[in-house]
Amino acid sequence: MIRDLILKNRSYRRFYQEVAIELETLRELVDLARLSASAANMQPLKYILSCAPQKNALIFPHLGWAGYLKDWPGPGEGERPSAYIVVLGDTEIKQSFSHPDHGIATQSILLGATDKGLGGCILAGVEKQGLRDALRIPTRYEILLVLALGKPKETVVIETVGPTGDIKYWRDSEGTHHVPKRLLDDIILS
Ligand SMILES: Cc1cc2nc3c(=O)[nH]c(=O)nc-3n(C[C@H](O)[C@H](O)[C@H](O)COP(=O)(O)O)c2cc1C
Repeated sequence: MIRDLILKNRSYRRFYQEVAIELETLRELVDLARLSASAANMQPLKYILSCAPQKNALIFPHLGWAGYLKDWPGPGEGERPSAYIVVLGDTEIKQSFSHPDHGIATQSILLGATDKGLGGCILAGVEKQGLRDALRIPTRYEILLVLALGKPKETVVIETVGPTGDIKYWRDSEGTHHVPKRLLDDIILS
């Protein structure tokens, strides 16, 4: 079951924008992050939730989508995420965010979203000052990641990394997104 959930939990970048996500759903997802592991149990992460079109529109322009798809500027109007979770580090709790707390938190959220029939994408490609200004995020909080969420409108399939070792994902002429993964025997060293 966990394998099925992880297989289904791909990075989705195009959505049925008209399918709304309730604030309560976002709260339930952040609760999964709250219950996840945290280095020294410091729990320094804080979250900004967005599921209203106007607030979503403030966030979208500051996100960088699919760097390997050079000709694709990101999802167009109508295919954009219906919600976001902005993941922040509270510098009054911790000064550096080198521990992977935010990676673990976002994975918990994405697995929860997948379980609810939703999907999303972790975005580190964030124009942080612009986002800070747009959402008026106080300097106390470091912007770590943005999670885009919605009802996926694209098919994503896993491929095997070939002999050239190319790990770049690609999109075929039908719009299916292909993601190469390294073989198990290539990542287990001993
Ligand atoms: C820490 C982290 C940062 C990421 N940042 C971006 C990003 O800025 N833009 C984007 O389109 N995808 C981003 N991704 C998604 C990756 O491109 C994606 O995980 C990868 O292509 C593998 O696809 P998969 O998630 O379907 O396995 C990020 C993923 C992670 C874990």
